[in-house]
Amino acid sequence: MADTTSTALVTGAASGIGRAVAARLAADGARVVCADANAVGLDETISAIERAGGSAAAVVLDVTDRDAVARLVGSADLDGLDRVALCAGIYRATPVDAFSIDDYRRVLEVNLTSSVALLVALVPRLRAAEAPRAVTVSSIHSQFAEAGSSAYAVSKAGLVAATKALAVELAGDGILVNSIAPGFIDTPMAVLEDGTNEHDTAGFRSVYVEHGKLPLGRPGTPEEVAAAASFLLSPDNGYITGHVLVVDGGLTATF
Ligand code: NAI
Repeated sequence: MADTTSTALVTGAASGIGRAVAARLAADGARVVCADANAVGLDETISAIERAGGSAAAVVLDVTDRDAVARLVGSADLDGLDRVALCAGIYRATPVDAFSIDDYRRVLEVNLTSSVALLVALVPRLRAAEAPRAVTVSSIHSQFAEAGSSAYAVSKAGLVAATKALAVELAGDGILVNSIAPGFIDTPMAVLEDGTNEHDTAGFRSVYVEHGKLPLGRPGTPEEVAAAASFLLSPDNGYITGHVLVVDGGLTATF
C-alpha cells in the first residue's frame, strides 16, 4: 500500500465503475468510504477491498435523501477527506412516445442535482485538506445524442457544466474538480431489460466494432475508468481542473 493519510468518498461504489474506483483508490493507499443505496453490493465491494489488503467502510445511502447525506457529511467516517468520486447514477429511457415526467425528474435528481448537492456539502471538509480533488462521472452522452435518452443526456451535460462552474469557483481554495466522461463500459448498466448485454448485440457489434465507429474495437472496463479517476484525484494532478477526461476507446474522436 502507498500512503494511508488519504480519505476518499466514492458514491455508486456497490457496482461497476464506482466499485472499480473504490478498489483502485484503496490500492492507491486511501481509506475509502463506499456509499451506495445497494447494501448487498456494498458488502461485496468492501470484502474485495479488504481481501486485497485495503481499508474501506460502507455507508448505505440514497444520494437523493438529503437528511442521510447531511448525516454522512457530518460523520467522523469522513474525517481527513481529500478525494471525492461521484459515480452513482442511473439510466432510464425517456422516449417521446412513452414519456414519463417522473422518470425524467428522477434521472436529473440522481445524476445531476444530488451529485452537485453532495459535492457542495463536502466543500468545507475539502477546504481543510492538503490536496483536495473531486471527480464527477458524466458520460459521452453529454456530447452526442441517442434516441430516447434526453433525460440522461441533460443530466450528464448538466453535470459537466456544474463540474466546470465548481472548478472555477473552488480553484481559489485549491480544490481541483474534474469530470470523467466514459463511453461504452462493461458494467451492469449495459445489461438490457431482457438480460442481454448491450455490447453483445448484433446492432452494437455492427455499428461500433465492424464499421469502426469504436476505434479500440471493444467496450472499456470499469478498471480503465478507475485508472483515470486515480490520476485526476492524486497529487500527481496539480494543474488540471474544470476538465472533462473522455475515456471512450476513441469513439468521440470519430465524430
Ligand atoms: P452501475 O449500475 O453498475 O452502478 C451504478 C451504481 O449507482 C449502483 O451501485 C447503484 O446502486 C448506484 N446508485 C444508483 N442510484 C443511486 C442512489 N439514488 N443513491 C445511491 N446510489 C445509487 O452503473 P455504472 O456503469 O457503473 O455507472 C456508474 C456511473 O458511470 C453512472 O453515473 C453512469 O451514468 C456513468 N456512465 C456509465 C457508462 C457505462 O457504459 N457503463 C457510460 C457513461 C457513464
